[in-house]
Amino acid sequence: MNAVDIINKKRCGEALNTEEIEYMVMGFTEGVIPDYQMSALLMAICLQGMTKEETVDLTRIMRDSGETVDLSAIKGVKVDKHSTGGVGDKTTLIVAPIAAACGVPIAKMSGRGLGFTGGTVDKMESIPGFVTSMERDRFIESVNEKGIAVIGQTGHIAPADKKMYALRDVTGTTESISLITSSIMSKKLAAGADAIVLDVKCGAGAFMKTYEDARELAVWMVDIGRGNNKKMTAVISDMEQPLGKAVGNALEVREAIDVLRGDGPEDIRALSLRLAAEMILLGELADGSREKAEKMAMEALESGKALEKFGQFVANQGGDPAIIEDTSLFAQAAFAVEVRAEAAGYVTALDAMQIGLASQHAGAGREKKEDEIDMAAGILLDKKVGDEVQAGELLCTVYGNDKEKAETGAREAFAAYTIGSNKPEKTLLIKEIID
Ligand code: URA
Repeated sequence: MNAVDIINKKRCGEALNTEEIEYMVMGFTEGVIPDYQMSALLMAICLQGMTKEETVDLTRIMRDSGETVDLSAIKGVKVDKHSTGGVGDKTTLIVAPIAAACGVPIAKMSGRGLGFTGGTVDKMESIPGFVTSMERDRFIESVNEKGIAVIGQTGHIAPADKKMYALRDVTGTTESISLITSSIMSKKLAAGADAIVLDVKCGAGAFMKTYEDARELAVWMVDIGRGNNKKMTAVISDMEQPLGKAVGNALEVREAIDVLRGDGPEDIRALSLRLAAEMILLGELADGSREKAEKMAMEALESGKALEKFGQFVANQGGDPAIIEDTSLFAQAAFAVEVRAEAAGYVTALDAMQIGLASQHAGAGREKKEDEIDMAAGILLDKKVGDEVQAGELLCTVYGNDKEKAETGAREAFAAYTIGSNKPEKTLLIKEIID
């Protein structure tokens, strides 16, 4: 077998067999297949796709490339949550403490940013002192004692995905149903939870641009999860415009705290409550009643119990819980560039991917896999779709510690807005629940 033949086969649109997939994936993981050959294969997969059988093989090979976590020492039904990636998506930071406050044991492994989307691990690292790695025993002990621990995906979990994910991030090979399915499900299956709630994004700021593609991705992941004895629910949610008003690491954590405090933008609050309710339901804590699960999630948020849980979670992982009261403890950007409307009208579109890229270029994301993130960089959106604007009014502010980068981000953020004369119709945030 050789790599060039396998790349050519996929480039011509043929299905690869189990041995060929294993040869490439394990060869790459072990350092035998170089980056450039794996990049070529990933691009061929993006362009030609993979069958469901190939995707099932790829997921299993990636899962088995590393260790499988045993969470049986944690009491209760362990429920994981995973987003397929979006812009301004800080739901894990809200959903995990809400669900934990309701008694769902949260033993979660999260990822870093990918392409124009942010990652929970990068966001959490913007909390001063917060540590995203933990010995396995302490991880389990933390969940048993505090009810929640969220760490970075270790190199031992699906190492094939870790290497492929980093390569996809910088080779324009993120948007593929098979690659996303295998990437997410290999990690989720290895991470040991009993049940998984998937937040599958669709729209301009998602890897899946259309509802149909997002639905197909959701169904593939749910099928693969169920085939591996996991209880699965997928929520399909809108990612046409960014979620909430903050994009960028420290800015997003601050917004998550606002939501946990009972404030914050309505869209992020509504989606977080929905996802938390689905976790409570799968966690068998609501007697099978979605309505009861919704009430429990709402009560945890409104009573302040979820915020209290967030504080315990931050402190347990070395972070300074004082950030909850004093947001000046977060990294502050040296530059703030305002973006103003040139004409009056309504915001008819706000391209989430363009905003994600603008935030990345302002310093909030990586362009090369070894790039450092500027934790203070990002965008605060003043206006979102449906808002009325006057000429000269503030649309958004781009933050960063590198003036040139912040200005680039500001030019790109301006281009992400479409201003028209008619108020657009409201779109549905939660499009479907597949359970
Ligand atoms: N999240 C992942 O973990 N992998 C992907 O490929 C996309 C989103």
